[in-house]
Amino acid sequence: MNADEPIMSRTLPKALSADARQAGTKNAAAAADDIALALARHLRDREELLFTSRSISIGEMASTLAHEINQPVGTIVNVLRGVSARLARLPVAAEHQAQLDDLHQGLKLALDQAQFAGRIVGRIREFTQARQPEHKPLDLRALALECVALLDWEFTRQGVPVATEMPVPFWVVGDTVMLQQVVVNLLRNALQAHRGLPAQQAQVVLRLQALGEAEVELAIVDQGCGISGSAEGKLFVPFQSSKPDGMGIGLNICRSFVELHQGRLWFTHNPAPPGGCTFHLALRTTAAG
Ligand SMILES: Nc1ncnc2c1ncn2[C@@H]1O[C@H](COP(=O)(O)OP(=O)(O)O)[C@@H](O)[C@H]1O
Ligand SMILES: [Mg+2]
Repeated sequence: MNADEPIMSRTLPKALSADARQAGTKNAAAAADDIALALARHLRDREELLFTSRSISIGEMASTLAHEINQPVGTIVNVLRGVSARLARLPVAAEHQAQLDDLHQGLKLALDQAQFAGRIVGRIREFTQARQPEHKPLDLRALALECVALLDWEFTRQGVPVATEMPVPFWVVGDTVMLQQVVVNLLRNALQAHRGLPAQQAQVVLRLQALGEAEVELAIVDQGCGISGSAEGKLFVPFQSSKPDGMGIGLNICRSFVELHQGRLWFTHNPAPPGGCTFHLALRTTAAG
């Protein structure tokens, strides 16, 4: 392109240049208005097109990633199962039994995590194939206990004890994987809120109780750093994280999932000491499944 060409014909696409030529017959002010309007329209259309194509590519990327990740995750699950089975058949001297039990325990943990990852990936694939979330009766107590078991190792490693106060089961209707993701996210946030605090202060409690006539509430109570007034407003805003390794989308996803279940998710401050905060998840109950 010639650098001496008028700016207008360099920046405007062909159709617009034609507009501009046509506009030459009108008076100069009206022509300038027409061109400005056409240019604005063109820029807006291009922006919308860009946004749409970006959303489509993100959808495609998610679906491709889910497909690709599914393969190695499946292999990991199979390998872990195979190793577990072989270990179980090994003749072992009594003095080595305790070590073998440790190995089994480690393998089981790894297998649980790999299967959990597999279910998340499976769920992403279902999403991208536009399937509806499942709606079936599930025991929220069993689900919460499974989430605690999934993160047990992380809690132990960080020296944060977890206690559960869930005397009776509560049945709700929903999607197991989505609700599992919500509880795991909330538990992980509670755990991370203890980073850098004195070990004796650390404690996370999961409490399951009836809320009125028709709801059950799962409360995740921590004694972590708490949430400051300024952080409160940004809590559910995507990509807002106070952690160096945080993505800041966990709570946002949690809330969408909970709302899909016609449930509620909110938080309260715990009185100091020891402080910290409580995340509350409320879901409608159903008859035992
Ligand atoms: N239990 C909690 N205690 C203190 N702060 C919390 C807690 N849960 C969430 N937050 C705050 O909310 C922010 C957003 O959380 P989240 O959406 O899960 O993203 P991420 O964990 O990746 O930062 C966190 O960075 C943290 O500042
Ligand atoms: Mg998080």
